[in-house]
Amino acid sequence: DAAEDLEERPAVVTIMGHVDHGKTTLLDSIRDTKVTEGEAGGITQHIGAYQVEENGKKITFLDTPGHAAFTSMRSRGAQVTDIAILVVAADDGVMPQTVEAINHAKAADVPIIVAVNKMDKEGANPNRVMQELMEYELISEDFGGETIFVKMAAVKHEGIDDLLEMIVLVTEMEELKANPNRPAYGTVIEAELDKGRGSVATLLVQNGTLRVGDALVVGNTFGRVRAMVNDLGRRVKSAGPSTPVEITGLNEVPQAGDRFLAFEDEKKARAIGEARQQKQIEAQRSDRTKVSLDDLFE
Ligand code: GTP
Ligand code: NA
Ligand code: MG
Repeated sequence: DAAEDLEERPAVVTIMGHVDHGKTTLLDSIRDTKVTEGEAGGITQHIGAYQVEENGKKITFLDTPGHAAFTSMRSRGAQVTDIAILVVAADDGVMPQTVEAINHAKAADVPIIVAVNKMDKEGANPNRVMQELMEYELISEDFGGETIFVKMAAVKHEGIDDLLEMIVLVTEMEELKANPNRPAYGTVIEAELDKGRGSVATLLVQNGTLRVGDALVVGNTFGRVRAMVNDLGRRVKSAGPSTPVEITGLNEVPQAGDRFLAFEDEKKARAIGEARQQKQIEAQRSDRTKVSLDDLFE
């Protein structure tokens, strides 16, 4: 669309890899390194995503959604990731879920950066990891290939800056763009029912700008953004492309991987939401599969 004003947007990065290879530790370590305590305001934030800044560029990290969630998101057409970080423990090497992660990333056609983690451990053997990954066409520059490998020890905060630099490098090659001047759409990262606040959903805005007060259709539910909180636990009024936010105001609890779309007109959102709920009820009755929201994104 020629009328679209496309602007650069932050990369959305997902951490993947075998059990216990250090995905969560890596995410914590990046956050500890980049987000100062004062900024977090003492609030223990449980939003499953956050943003950091490296060389003036923002990067959005998604907490590892688990392979099942990732697969389900993908099968429902929700492509949220721009770059995959494949964490491989240097003392353990390539394991079954490492291979699964590679397959997911390849199917989603996203670039992979390999984080060879646990370099501090006795028995760490990064060359073995590199050799094992050659079988999966992830060939390091040391072996004449093009895959970026970063050696690190997440638990000791070692290699974090190198990894972030490489992410920025890959981001620049990807030329990621979005239009902040349109109604928002994106994907539900996680959602739950909170006793006090009702339906609470973490959304990743993928395009457009989401604002407090916006009417939303989300999966098979709908509502209006009552309040919005960013990854630092601060109340915000708007969220642009590649920004994760936690919102309240939905009528029901959506599912991870559900897509959302904002409407300027609340009546329209309500009408579509109610029609979709009705269809969903009928689909359940007739044992048909879930109604897709994809038609709305055409
Ligand atoms: P799952 O979410 O269960 O798949 O695991 P994970 O990949 O998130 O691994 P996690 O971050 O929970 O780390 C697993 C264990 O490895 C923890 O005991 C970490 O402290 C440890 N660990 C992570 N990174 C390092 C590292 O760089 N060096 C050492 N020595 N231990 C590490
Ligand atoms: Na673990
Ligand atoms: Mg973990």
